[in-house]
Amino acid sequence: MHYIKMQPDENYIRGKKERHSKITFQKSGQYDWETPQAFFDELNKEFDFTLDPCCTPENAKCKKFFTEKEDGLKQSWAGERVFMNPPYGTLISKWVKKAYEEAQAGALVVCLLPARTDTRWWWDYCMKGEICFIKGRLKFKGRNTKGELVNYPATFPSAVVVFRKDEIG
Ligand SMILES: C[S@@+](CC[C@H](N)C(=O)[O-])C[C@H]1O[C@@H](n2cnc3c(N)ncnc32)[C@H](O)[C@@H]1O
Repeated sequence: MHYIKMQPDENYIRGKKERHSKITFQKSGQYDWETPQAFFDELNKEFDFTLDPCCTPENAKCKKFFTEKEDGLKQSWAGERVFMNPPYGTLISKWVKKAYEEAQAGALVVCLLPARTDTRWWWDYCMKGEICFIKGRLKFKGRNTKGELVNYPATFPSAVVVFRKDEIG
């Protein structure tokens, strides 16, 4: 089991401001919080990603990408090294299932996910991958309810889950 240690001062905001930011984060209704670039860069050094299957043209992490318009869930990821930070809404289980199935078909899929270890999708799929828990909280970039660009600490723990064919058991 591995974990990535985040610097506490980068990941915690204390006091009133923090409570306010959490409320806005949870109520935003947006599921397009962007992966911190430095965090992605570290993973990219190891995996050399070729596809971001869920993004907008503005927050895409790879040259090849699928947006909502193409619907990454309906596309083939065959032969790709995929970085997947999916929308964290109700469809997250479909994204994790897709990641697992594409890996069974031969893709390498690295997922950045909320560490929701009490969910069915965690037990059905993530437990079959290589799990790396992240110590501390990531800060995600996105727009708050006022439409302002903000950088908020997540209200949940995160994990990186790697699916590759030979590791799926
Ligand atoms: C959590 S964000 C991650 C964005 C980016 N991949 C990153 O890592 O910074 C999830 C993204 O998925 C996009 N999205 C939502 N539904 C999608 C779909 N069916 N196909 C492709 N992208 C989708 C959203 O627009 C959003 O930008």
